[in-house]
Parts: sequence; C-alpha cells; structure tokens
Amino acid sequence: MLIALLPGDGIGPEVIAETRRVLEALSLDSLHFEEALVGGAAYKATGHPLPPETLDLARRADAILFGAVGDPDCDALERHLRPEQAILGLRKELGLFANLRPAKLFPELADASALRPEVASQIDMVIVRELNGDVYFGEKGMRTTADGKREGYDIMSYDEDEVRRIARVGFETAMARGKKLCSVDKANVLETSQLWRDVVIETAQEYPDVALSHMYVDNAAMQLVRNPGQFDVIVTGNLFGDILSDQASMCAGSIGMLPSASLDSAQKGLYEPIHGSAPDIAGQGKANPLATILSAAMMLRYSLNHATAADRIERAVAMALANGARSPDLGGTLSTREMGDAVLAALT
Ligand code: NAI
Ligand code: MG
Repeated sequence: MLIALLPGDGIGPEVIAETRRVLEALSLDSLHFEEALVGGAAYKATGHPLPPETLDLARRADAILFGAVGDPDCDALERHLRPEQAILGLRKELGLFANLRPAKLFPELADASALRPEVASQIDMVIVRELNGDVYFGEKGMRTTADGKREGYDIMSYDEDEVRRIARVGFETAMARGKKLCSVDKANVLETSQLWRDVVIETAQEYPDVALSHMYVDNAAMQLVRNPGQFDVIVTGNLFGDILSDQASMCAGSIGMLPSASLDSAQKGLYEPIHGSAPDIAGQGKANPLATILSAAMMLRYSLNHATAADRIERAVAMALANGARSPDLGGTLSTREMGDAVLAALT
C-alpha cells in the first residue's frame, strides 16, 4: 500500500511529521510512504502549486495524507497559482465527491466546546457532504438587467446519479455506526431538494436496517446547537454541508482536533485535518497534530482496510488526552513534537 504524503506549507509539514511517526510506529509491513511538494512549498520550488509529479503520485497512491496549504507569501499571485488551488485541483482531478467529517468531543475536552459541557458531551456524529456538485459548480455569472441593475446568479442543480452516489455513502456510513441517517435539504422550497429527498427515499430501499429521517436545513442548524446528540450520520449537499460541518466542528472543540476524508467511488481517499496552514503559528512548534493523526486513522479505516490499526490510533489519542497532553489551542503548553510523543507513548 502506497501512501502519498503531501505536507504542504505553514504548519502542514509539522503536523505531517508527527503523523508519519505515529504511522511508522504501527509497524505495518504493508505501508510505504512517498512525499511530494504541494501548495506554497511547491510553488516556491517549481512555480506551480500542484506540479505534475505531485498529481502523478496522488494518482498512483492507495491513499493521500494531506497537511495544509495557504502560504501568505503567495497572496499576491494570480488565482490559478495560489496554494489553495492545489487542494481544489486534487479533489477535482481525483473525483473526490464525498466529504466525511466526524465530529466527536473527547470527554476530556468538554470545556473546549462552544456549547455547555453537558450538551457538547453528546456530540458523536459524521457529516457526509457532497463535494462535486450543487450551486458551486452550476452556471454562474454577472449580468445587467433591462433596467440597468447588476445581477449575480449561481444555478443550483443536482442530477439523480449525483444524489444516489452520495446517498449511498451516507447509508454505508450509517451502517458502520449507529444505523441512523438524517438527510438534510430544503424540500419545502427547492426543486433540487425535492429530487434529493425522492432519491434518498428510493436509495433507502437498499438499506432496510438504517432508520432514515429528513430535516430542513434551517431546523438542522438549530438542532445541531440545541440537541446535537440526536444525530448519528447526516447526509447533505455541498452548500448546506459546507455550513453545517463547520458549525458542528466548532461545537466539538478545537479546530486542531478534527479530521476529514474526501472519497471517490472506489474508496480511494484524501485525508486531511479540517484546519488550514495557520501562518500565525507556523514554524513555532505550537500546532496541534491530533487532527492530522486522527485523519490518518480514518485513512487506515476507509482506504487501507486496517480498522484495527485505526482503532489503536484513536485509543492512543484518547489516552494521551486523558493523561493530560495539551497543546496551546487546548489550553496547555506542549509542543507539536511533544504531542506526537504523547500519542506514541500511549500507542506502545
Ligand atoms: P486556519 O485553520 O489555518 O487557522 C485558523 C486559526 O486556528 C488560527 O488562529 C490558527 O493558528 C488556528 N489553528 C489552525 N490549526 C491549528 C492547529 N492544528 N493547532 C493549533 N491551532 C490551529 O485558517 P485561516 O487562518 O483562515 O487560513 C490560513 C490559510 O490556510 C489560508 O491561506 C487558507 O486559505 C488556508 N486554508 C487551507 C485549508 C486546506 O489546506 N485544506 C483549509 C482552510 C484554510
Ligand atoms: Mg468551509
């Protein structure tokens, strides 16, 4: 199994280095690593944020572990040369249409949530967000109306195949967890959502063991704060998922804790922390590596068929936290390396 390591820029290389140590400590003979430049680091070396060698490695690899990109030195560049184009390019080139974001509060971090501890402690869910369609990819533009006003427009659309494939990811994710799926839409107003709901209901026939419910997105936003414990798996479109997944992640504590997966139809995936390259703390050893380490656990589970190794990593992270390991974002003083050490100690 080949793992492409794409550290990127900013804190990316720091958090990937700790994650690589954790993966190597598992001593799985079948894992091999190859590293390539991406984002600001690639631009500085080659003049392009996603060089052909990097894309080639990503295509050859069985899974991709991505750090972060967003070097502010590149802020003045044209849009297609900016570091963020690398992650968008990888998602598009590899057909990564399903974004999975688990949000779970480690009990030790109950006071880090934006919610009251007794509410936050119930959070344990996965948001499955469609990533290749919706209003982001429909026809868009600016025009002038007959009476001379400027008008912007973005067309929202989904076809039934796009909905079916993401619905299946939602049902499969629910099957592997608590067998509850909540589909979030705005079917009372949007035709796109009516199709979404119809196709999700059709797909449910393939998964008789999953309890399916539907919720309007405005209500879902409220319920995520009021009673997040009611959710097991949420499946939703690109726009609603963008907003709800950020909301759910803040309910669950620090941005430095949360992993994500972006999958194609063959369970090949790109795994990355939800945070960016954090230029404000880059190079200072202050970054929390746990989001990336937990992303590696997701990679082992979803793409590499190593569920036991994934469990081991997740248990080691929980144990490190229980032992008091805290980086500055969690109110402590441990460096990135020391957080890695704490996980390694718990692993062995
Ligand atoms: P950010 O996530 O990089 O940072 C937001 C805040 O959280 C900062 O104060 C940062 O210090 C802190 N933070 C983030 N990760 C942390 C960690 N692991 N440990 C401790 N503290 C952490 O978001 P921001 O500042 O909006 O964006 C910075 C750059 O990253 C931008 O260029 C943005 O475009 C890019 N970005 C890249 C992403 C990616 O590579 N997938 C995702 C989000 C943003
Ligand atoms: Mg977002």
